[in-house]
Amino acid sequence: MKRNILVFLIVLTVVFSTALATTYVVGTSADFPPFEYVQNGKYVGFDMELINSIAKAEGFNVQIRDMSFDSLIPALKAGVIDIAIAGMTITQERQKVVDFSNPYWFANQDVIVGKNSKYTVTVLFGNHTIGVQTGTTGDLWVTNNLMKAKILKESNVKRYQSFIYALQALLNGAIDAVVLDSPVAERFAQVKPVKIVATLVTGESYGIAVRKGNSSLLSKINDGLKKVKNSKKISELIDKYFGK
Ligand code: ARG
Repeated sequence: MKRNILVFLIVLTVVFSTALATTYVVGTSADFPPFEYVQNGKYVGFDMELINSIAKAEGFNVQIRDMSFDSLIPALKAGVIDIAIAGMTITQERQKVVDFSNPYWFANQDVIVGKNSKYTVTVLFGNHTIGVQTGTTGDLWVTNNLMKAKILKESNVKRYQSFIYALQALLNGAIDAVVLDSPVAERFAQVKPVKIVATLVTGESYGIAVRKGNSSLLSKINDGLKKVKNSKKISELIDKYFGK
């Protein structure tokens, strides 16, 4: 009898603590394999499993919200989302408006072109059209290094809300090249008829963003990140999403 009561109490505690755990809304831009993408109607990828593992380690729940990459920081500021995880580079500009976790991944920018095209790195320097995702560090690189330097005209830069559209435009010949993060370019080169013709060494680090000043959530995320990095989960995730 006593035993039954004990079991009952344990079940009750588990049920209540899960039900009462805080749910944080997590924003992402699910166009960025292997970090975040949609598969069979579900949000999957390294970032998605990373944030789920952090949540599990820290005892909170998450709910994923997909939006365009350039909406993530405004959504954080407005309180529409609590966390942004989207292969987001920690930059000084962004640090003025949001707070970032410790870095969890590194990237450069790659230039990709159609698999059978004759373009090389010089695609960046002629009268060609270059696609980027709006508001990304690839967009910034092209704007600062090519447009402002008058190497490219404004009309030669095509900005897309989603990498899905940028890729489509590249594949149907509407644009000549796309500048994007190296781990994602590598994935696209494996699964789509595109190839990498140059790497721009930008030395970027990815962080998870929260609203500026939300230090209690930030320390939970950093703490959870450390736990995940120290567990075997991290190598599982790396193998699953970056293994050959
Ligand atoms: N790392 C780049 C940046 O922070 C690109 C991120 C794009 N992420 C995405 N999920 N589409 O600007």
